[in-house]
Amino acid sequence: MEIRIFDDQSELDRYAASLFAETVRRKPDAVLGLATGSTPIGIYEKIVEEHRRGLSFREVTTFNLDEYVGLPRNHEQSYYTYMQKHLFAHIDIRPENVHLPNGTADDLAAECARYDALLAKHPIDIQLLGLGHNGHIGFNEPDESLIGETHVVELKRETLEANARFFASIRDVPTHAVTMGVGAILRAKTIVLAARGTDKARIVKEALQGPITTKCPASLLQTHAHVIVLLDREAGREL
Ligand code: GLP
Repeated sequence: MEIRIFDDQSELDRYAASLFAETVRRKPDAVLGLATGSTPIGIYEKIVEEHRRGLSFREVTTFNLDEYVGLPRNHEQSYYTYMQKHLFAHIDIRPENVHLPNGTADDLAAECARYDALLAKHPIDIQLLGLGHNGHIGFNEPDESLIGETHVVELKRETLEANARFFASIRDVPTHAVTMGVGAILRAKTIVLAARGTDKARIVKEALQGPITTKCPASLLQTHAHVIVLLDREAGREL
């Protein structure tokens, strides 16, 4: 596991973006695994800058980790809207190459199977991950056991609370999400985990240096051969 600690936010963003840009330069039809949350926003800005400097995403395919259940695509807090706003509207990616779980599908089990079939056809070259305060990755919440495949998950209280800041009130935060499972995440050839801020310092330490346990899904990353962890000083201060 390679751990890099940055003094400056924009350096972290630029470095993370360069890892994705290099992947696309080396392999123009690369498959990128993408994440949401506040952490990746600056990274997407720098990826857009790479595009403005000439990097094309025409042949790239993307998969997002997760989506809320019940929010229509065009809801302002859907992860679909987030991705359009922060990345897809600003690069030359083909809409048909963009994949997010559909949280409004009538048959969510069928939707999960559809997503896994697509993932099986397009192995992820590089996966971006943020880190939940309780150690979740995507929306794989801490539990007695974890699920390998894409599935519907009930969000933990602490996750609802953390995400309430994006909604009018906590009652408006969807209680369920569709998430890629830990199996697909761990099958990505390279994983880039980014975290910032003092409030992530404890869980960063637990995930990277604590026991490997389903109670901290991010700790499973310790079993992966190629993980790059990007932290600011605050998030890395307990290491
Ligand atoms: C959400 C997302 C995760 C993300 C996490 C942390 O719950 N589903 O993929 O990593 O939030 O978000 P933030 O970067 O805003 O702390």
